[in-house]
Amino acid sequence: MKIRSADITPESVVLGRRAWLSSTARRATGLGVGLSGLTASSLSQASVSRLAEPLTPLAARPWPGMPTDKLTPVHDVTGYNNFYEFGTDKADPQRLAPSRLQVRPYQLVVKGLVAKPITLGFDDLLKLSPLEERIYRLRCVEGWSMVIPWVGFSLSAVLRRAQPLGSAKYVEFISQADRATMPGLSSPVLDWPYQEGLRLDEAMHPLTTLTVGLYGKTLPAQNGSPVRLVVPWKYGFKSAKSIVEIRLVESQPIPSWVKTAPQEYGFFSNVNPAVPHRRWSQATERRIGEDGLLSPRRPTLPFNGYADQVASLYTGMDLRRFF
Ligand code: MTE
Repeated sequence: MKIRSADITPESVVLGRRAWLSSTARRATGLGVGLSGLTASSLSQASVSRLAEPLTPLAARPWPGMPTDKLTPVHDVTGYNNFYEFGTDKADPQRLAPSRLQVRPYQLVVKGLVAKPITLGFDDLLKLSPLEERIYRLRCVEGWSMVIPWVGFSLSAVLRRAQPLGSAKYVEFISQADRATMPGLSSPVLDWPYQEGLRLDEAMHPLTTLTVGLYGKTLPAQNGSPVRLVVPWKYGFKSAKSIVEIRLVESQPIPSWVKTAPQEYGFFSNVNPAVPHRRWSQATERRIGEDGLLSPRRPTLPFNGYADQVASLYTGMDLRRFF
C-alpha cells in the first residue's frame, strides 16, 4: 500500500519541507543538504514520538518579557530537527538520537583562560542557578522558525563561576562527538566535533541561555540533551547541542559552519533580514507548526526580535561585513 506523506506526518512538517524544497536551490555545501533524502519512511519516523530516554519534569520559574507568539507544537519541536551528528534529514535526530545519544555520565568542562577551571555534572548544573522557563523564537538560517519554551538559565552563571581572565575575549563551545553512537560523524558534511563560538560579551548577555529542558521537562535527545546553548538573536546553528566543553580563548574561534563554508556563514550570524544568505533571501521566514498552504511567510525581525536587548552589543559594527 502506498502511504501518502500527508497521512502520516504533521501537516506543518510536510509543508515546512515543501516550502524549503521549493524555495531553495540546494547547490553548494550547507545546511539543508539532507533534504534530498526525503522519503515516506523517513517522514513516518518523524510523525512518531519515540523518546527512549525518559524525560524528567523540571520546576522552572517564568522568565519576564516573553514573546506572545503562539508556541510551536511539541511534536514539531521534537520531530523537525537539525542535529547533523545523527544525519542530515530533519527526521533523523528523532529517529536515532533517543536510543543512541549517550547522556550519562555527563560532564561539562569549563577551561582555558579562567582563574578556576571547573567540571560540572548534570546535577551540579541544576544547582548552579534557579531554572527559568524562557520562551524564545528560534530562527534557523534555512528560513524557518519556531517558538520554544526552553528551560535553563543565563550562561553567565557558569562563566562567572569559572572566573574569566582579562585575556579571555571569546568563548568556544564544543559538542559531544562519539563515532560509536553518532552515525553522522562518518559524513564529511562538517568538521567534527561541532564547534561554535561567541564573543565574551555575547556569552555573558542574560539572553544567552544554558539550556537543560523544553516544555517543562529535560531535553529530548534530538534537541541536544542533556545540555545545549540557546542564543535567540542569532541563527539557530549558533545554539550548539549536547555541549561537553566550554573554552575561554583569546582569538576568535572558527565555528564548524564557518570552517566548512566560509563564503556562506559568518562568525556573528545575527538574524538579519537585510543580509541574504548567498543562496536565498533572509527577508522572510516560515513558522513551523502554523503554516497552511496559503499562509504567507512572516517578515524576519532584526536580531530575531531581540534588537532592544542586544543591538547595543554591535554599536559601530558594519553588520553587512561582519555577518
Ligand atoms: N548542534 C549540533 N551539535 N549539531 C547540529 O547539527 N544544528 C544547529 C543547532 N545546533 C546543530 C546544533 C541548527 S542548524 C539548528 S537550526 C538548531 O540546532 C536546531 O535546534 P532544534 O533541532 O532543537 O530545533
